[in-house]
Amino acid sequence: MLEKLYDHPLKNLNTFGFDVSARCLARAHSEEDILSALSDDELKGLPRLVMGGGSNLLFTGNFDGYILQPLMQNLDVVEDGADSVLLRAGAGVAWDELVAHCVAKGWYGLENLSYIPGVVGASPVQNIGAYGVEAKDCIEKVEYIDTHDLRLKTLSNEQCRFGYRSSIFKQELRGRVVVAQVYFRLRKNGELFLSYGDLHTTVSGMGGPSLHNVRSAVILIRRSKLPDPAEVGNAGSFFKNPLVEKPLFDALLQQYPAMPGYAAGSGVKIPAGWLIEQCGLKGARRGKVGVHPKQALVLVNYGGGTGSEVLALAREVCDAVLQKFGVALEMEVNVV
Ligand code: EPU
Repeated sequence: MLEKLYDHPLKNLNTFGFDVSARCLARAHSEEDILSALSDDELKGLPRLVMGGGSNLLFTGNFDGYILQPLMQNLDVVEDGADSVLLRAGAGVAWDELVAHCVAKGWYGLENLSYIPGVVGASPVQNIGAYGVEAKDCIEKVEYIDTHDLRLKTLSNEQCRFGYRSSIFKQELRGRVVVAQVYFRLRKNGELFLSYGDLHTTVSGMGGPSLHNVRSAVILIRRSKLPDPAEVGNAGSFFKNPLVEKPLFDALLQQYPAMPGYAAGSGVKIPAGWLIEQCGLKGARRGKVGVHPKQALVLVNYGGGTGSEVLALAREVCDAVLQKFGVALEMEVNVV
């Protein structure tokens, strides 16, 4: 049954911990509930926001509309082959619960994505990624409800047009999709990806490569760099790592020989955290909000801060990076 909760506080539903509320929170436990919400007379005409775990949202004020929260919790094996399994996960399953489940079963593919906050339904939308792996590497297809015609539709991996923190759900289909089920193809072959940063070294220190050790290593690295939203409000990386053309990268490298960069397509991706740190803003505080002292890509709410304050700091950061490097940062977080 669809639950409609009016004037609902969102403090515990956004990882920044902003003290805002929604006119209505519509909790959907099934695909039918989603359809009920989309055709509900009281909700019709109100602005709608589909919310996963609230880990990538920045509220600048109360939301005068309804928040639709898909909560389907199923995890079903729909195919069990010799080399792989196809797992269907409900949009409301906590992302890390899915990863933990796969690691426990001995299924390979998602271990590098351990400990990412949020839920399964959001994973294809922004194609979450970490330590050299992206959700798209394991997503076989996505089932969603089209809010225009209220039909259940399926897109294959290719049709999702995944890119770096991007997909068709953030582009052409933005605002008209409620993800219901995500199908993951997981391998039984034992292949691990350890080439990112210090992952290999950390895994070796834990006794060598295994599914379980990769998960533990990723959790250890994330905990050492990224603030826990339960302790200090944040939404992970606030900006995307900018992709610049090779000639600009080479010119910058002349000036800043220590600048890191990773080849991506025809250009080079520069870690935004490095750019921000070079501007002297790592650990900067502006009242109750700031730039995280251990990872400059993360903006934090130390408690009692507002979305507008974080947004003002984000603008300051963007301006500083643009002025010093001529590189424009793009936000990863969705502003509401
Ligand atoms: N760096 C600095 N200073 C900083 C932060 C980073 O100099 O304050 C430089 C260092 O050279 C470091 C490099 O940036 O070696 C890369 O840093 P890190 O490994 O922490 O990764 P990132 O590029 O900052 C990206 C993702 C993270 C993901 C990590 C690990 C984006 C926007 N962010 O961060 O994703 O966990 O790689 O794969 O691509 C998220 O999306 O919310 C998120 C946390």
